[in-house]
Amino acid sequence: MLVRVLFRSFIYVWSTSKGWIVFSIFYSLATGMIPIATLWATKELINETAKFLGGLDNYRIVITLVSVQILLMLSSSLLNLFKKIFDEKVELLLGHNLKGQILKKASNVTMDLYDDPNFFNKLMRIENSTGNRFLSPIKEFFSFLENTISGVTVSIFLLSFHWLLLLVALIPLIPYFFVQLKYGKQRFNLLFNYTPLLRDADITARLITSRNSAKEVKSFGLSNHLFNRWSKKYLQNAQEHLKLSRKQYYSLFGNEGFGLIIYALIIYIILKIINGAGGLTIGDFVAIIQAVQNTQSKSQIASDNFAKILEDRLYLEDFFNFIEETSFNTKNKDKTYYKFPSPLKSSIEIKNLTFKYFNSTKKALDQISFSITPGEKIFIVGENGSGKSTLIKLLLGLYPIQQGDILFDGISIKSINDEELRKNLSVLFQDFVQYPYTIYENIGFGNIEKIDQEELIRLVSRKTGLDEIVNKYPKNYQTYLTKTLYDGEDLSGGQWQKIAFTRALFRNTQLVILDEPTAALDPKKEREVFQHFNDIAKNKTTIYISHRMSAARLADHIIVLKEGKIIEEGTFEELMIKNGDFKEMYELQSSQFKDKEKYVLF
Ligand SMILES: Nc1ncnc2c1ncn2[C@@H]1O[C@H](COP(=O)(O)OP(=O)(O)OP(=O)(O)O)[C@@H](O)[C@H]1O
Ligand SMILES: [Mg+2]
Repeated sequence: MLVRVLFRSFIYVWSTSKGWIVFSIFYSLATGMIPIATLWATKELINETAKFLGGLDNYRIVITLVSVQILLMLSSSLLNLFKKIFDEKVELLLGHNLKGQILKKASNVTMDLYDDPNFFNKLMRIENSTGNRFLSPIKEFFSFLENTISGVTVSIFLLSFHWLLLLVALIPLIPYFFVQLKYGKQRFNLLFNYTPLLRDADITARLITSRNSAKEVKSFGLSNHLFNRWSKKYLQNAQEHLKLSRKQYYSLFGNEGFGLIIYALIIYIILKIINGAGGLTIGDFVAIIQAVQNTQSKSQIASDNFAKILEDRLYLEDFFNFIEETSFNTKNKDKTYYKFPSPLKSSIEIKNLTFKYFNSTKKALDQISFSITPGEKIFIVGENGSGKSTLIKLLLGLYPIQQGDILFDGISIKSINDEELRKNLSVLFQDFVQYPYTIYENIGFGNIEKIDQEELIRLVSRKTGLDEIVNKYPKNYQTYLTKTLYDGEDLSGGQWQKIAFTRALFRNTQLVILDEPTAALDPKKEREVFQHFNDIAKNKTTIYISHRMSAARLADHIIVLKEGKIIEEGTFEELMIKNGDFKEMYELQSSQFKDKEKYVLF
């Protein structure tokens, strides 16, 4: 498993920058050999200098050895310099590629994952750690290689004096490695368990800083309460981290103490055992001490590297799990799909459609069946929470079908490629997006393939009456609709709704779905929208969801939903004759205007 994850991240990095890998191998080998060379040069230099000071004429040798030492230090600095530049470049590239992968994956998942908090927990974990984490095991691996080479070569040098030296020098390494490994794992577990808490803190902080929520938070005087909530969660997480770090540092301190005892033991071995066996030169003595320190530090770094690789593996597994999660892709890429029938000839048929949201016990839709003939104007009405918006989300293929089916000219939605499907549908969502870009882009996003056709955008805006708003701004369509991203303008709720309405119509598809398109409009604008809509949607199939019952009069077919079920359907006249829920809702609304007595809110 470890090898597989390492190999995969290696392949990733290789595809991002082959040059970096080649350079890193060269760097590890070269810098791995430098300590032993330096050690040898130092030892020779001290011995030769001692002879020189004793009156020997070996001036040239001393100068040569000094030059070798300087050359070694210079090469080491140069290698480090290039490594830093190269590392930074690869980190940036990798950060871009991996974030790109996460964004692509998020674009491909179905909406049901957006209803699962675990999806966001995972997303936060991997978003916060991927860039460096990805490169980290590879870097650690090369560093491991470099330090192992140094460690082994210096160990051989030590062995040439006495095997006990090496054995004793390496003893503190064992507890050190296990401490690093243990705390690495615990850090990952901490991150895993505390991600929901961190997200709570994050979301709470954003409630205070975001423009959308600020007005309500201030008006209700919630700032303090939210601040305290954020602070509590933040500190709770920080304290856990601190507790863990403290434990780890204490353990490492204990380990260092142990290392000092070992050091004393080594000095004893050098002076008593090695010196006792045969005379040591001063150069030998210095070189042995240096070699012991080198062996210890290099093997410690190598063990750090190894423990770190094992820790990084956990983060990488998280990343690969996210990227490979097959339940994300509801539609099989290899399967052949049917084209969306364009134009629709016979019907859209909704058959026994039943749907439950993620982790929900309640059915949002329960055995819904009805059919739409091309060109028909459907009106869907029903209480809040009766399933109207859910139905259109399923029609758009945003959620996988669980039970029942939706058929377009007899072809199941499950056999139609999502892209194909959406090319033929336009939608105005109840909670549409206010893009923080220009008015032009806000409309153009309705049909990204035609976003360059300015005349078309102007034409649709004239038809929906949006041009009236646009013309008031000096920069017209190039006016930015944001106050946070750029210094632009902001619109009223109703004006935004008109933008979203225009965007949906700019898509110009055979099927148009509007979910509460006029909820924010004043009566005059609502009337205008109706007129424009009837004009634009003349030859289209439309599904219109609204609580404004008057709109139902224009529909060919009305569906009344209640608690996920169809309770009535028919034409306006049929439903009025039926004298059921629809008539009651209709009369309740119209009576509010006629009858002062009945118009009581509280
Ligand atoms: N993402 C979701 N996860 C879980 N439950 C959901 C989700 N969206 C909606 N629901 C639930 O599904 C039911 C139907 O919701 P839906 O949004 O379809 O109602 P609606 O008819 O559009 O209501 P409204 O008139 O208020 O817009 C409701 O009980 C709602 O609580
Ligand atoms: Mg709704």
